[in-house]
Amino acid sequence: MTPLPAIRTSDLTKRYRSAMALGGLTMAVAAGEIFGFLGPNGAGKTTAVKILVGLTPPTSGEAWLLGERLGDREVRRRIGYLPELFRYQEWMSAREVLILHCTLMGMATAGRSSAIGEALEIVGLTDRGRDRVGTFSKGMQQRLGLAVALLGTPELVFLDEPTSALDPVGRHDVRQIIQNLKARGTTVFLNSHLLTEVEYVCDRVAVIDRGAVIALGTIDELRGTSHELRLHITGAAEDIGRVVTPFGPYESKGEWYRLRHVETRQVPELVAGLVSAGVHVHAVEPVRETLEDRFLQLLGGDADGHSHDRPADTP
Ligand SMILES: Nc1ncnc2c1ncn2[C@@H]1O[C@H](COP(=O)(O)OP(=O)(O)OP(=O)(O)O)[C@@H](O)[C@H]1O
Ligand SMILES: [Mg+2]
Repeated sequence: MTPLPAIRTSDLTKRYRSAMALGGLTMAVAAGEIFGFLGPNGAGKTTAVKILVGLTPPTSGEAWLLGERLGDREVRRRIGYLPELFRYQEWMSAREVLILHCTLMGMATAGRSSAIGEALEIVGLTDRGRDRVGTFSKGMQQRLGLAVALLGTPELVFLDEPTSALDPVGRHDVRQIIQNLKARGTTVFLNSHLLTEVEYVCDRVAVIDRGAVIALGTIDELRGTSHELRLHITGAAEDIGRVVTPFGPYESKGEWYRLRHVETRQVPELVAGLVSAGVHVHAVEPVRETLEDRFLQLLGGDADGHSHDRPADTP
């Protein structure tokens, strides 16, 4: 029997007065999967998460979390959530924030101390537990938010832009935390507009734009396959030309050659031909399209990455 998906949605929509924030989301996230929800500003990522965690009702459509219909109160205890924008009371200590959330979750008193210790440990705030939130840097506050989301070992965690306030070391730490969550079987739904973040940790990604999923698949599926090959070779130009020409169009710049269309299975033949012609082969690299190239193509392709902050389609 296939296990139930951790998340399933069917034609989920959210219409605000001036905007269609989510235009019919249908997807499934498998249990234990790290799923990236990638899209430009205003695409509908936060709206989707808010609907799933029960903060706002959908206009129409259905969804199931951990096998239960959206709105099931018991399921909420099994879910963790790091909101996009949050602020804790400045006068509370990190531990007090976590105690408050243990209470809100209805966690038994006996288990709280170890749950809080574990959450602080995971996010690297063990030594700062007794300090007030008001003395925390932005990145430390984000780590505390993550600790709240991970409190009590939830089965499913929603992270809405978890690294927006973090420095490169912090981003790396969060990637590690997500990988550790995966190792223990937790499902993670990660909202992000950071391609590298998604590229490093996600099993599958949905690209969302103006409320609609425009692509869904593994990172490799989204990138697509390229048949371009880059060669670093030295030797007589006429020898190189003789061997390379039958493999289709190419360009060269100094010692680097770029072949436009070579199937993987042709590579040994190409390299053997070069070697037997006395050419020295220093490097053979397939040219992969980056996720960023693909992302920009999907979104209608601008290079500056700024023109997507536009209002969603009005009804
Ligand atoms: N409470 C609201 N009232 C009216 N419109 C809203 C509300 N919340 C979101 N919207 C609109 O819905 C659309 C999607 O917003 P959403 O916050 O889901 O985007 P996002 O993908 O999370 O963007 P970002 O990357 O900037 O966080 C936007 O056009 C936004 O203006
Ligand atoms: Mg958002």
